Amino acid sequence: MKVGILTASDKGSRGERTDETVKVISDIIHQAGGEITDYVIVPDERSLISANLIRMSDELKLDLILTTGGTGFSPRDVTPEATLDVIERQVPGIPEAMRLKSLAITPRAMLSRAMAGIRGKTLIINLPGSPKGAAECLGVILPVLGHALEILRGDAGDCAR
Ligand code: MTE
Repeated sequence: MKVGILTASDKGSRGERTDETVKVISDIIHQAGGEITDYVIVPDERSLISANLIRMSDELKLDLILTTGGTGFSPRDVTPEATLDVIERQVPGIPEAMRLKSLAITPRAMLSRAMAGIRGKTLIINLPGSPKGAAECLGVILPVLGHALEILRGDAGDCAR
């Protein structure tokens, strides 16, 4: 599983904040047997986010791109819109499940506008910006991630189990 991480953060991109969330995501992915092949931190600019999503899927051909940050209500939060700009097929069940499980932890989970979708053979998933939120949401999808990526690559036999 080749994984890319894109952090959307104005402060982080200016070096004014350490990206703690990327460490948390990387640890979880490594424990799940995945490898972080690319990592970028960009300001909350729709065109920059979408350009990097395209680069990671079309050029690097990553299996999975996890974005973190920019899914809330702040005027600069545009990660879901940048994701919608590049995905070819939406996967609504993933953010639905993340919000459903997260609501049991915090009512603030309903403030997440996260999206997920497929571009080519790459699955793109928006995670919240906080280390805690990202870890919780990643924990929700981890059990199905292997099967999801197998189907996407055409490696899965069938789903009848
Ligand atoms: N989901 C989980 N599981 N845990 C959290 O702490 N934080 C919420 C939500 N989703 C949170 C969560 C909050 S407070 C916000 S504002 C939104 O994610 C968007 O976060 P972002 O703008 O950092 O992406």
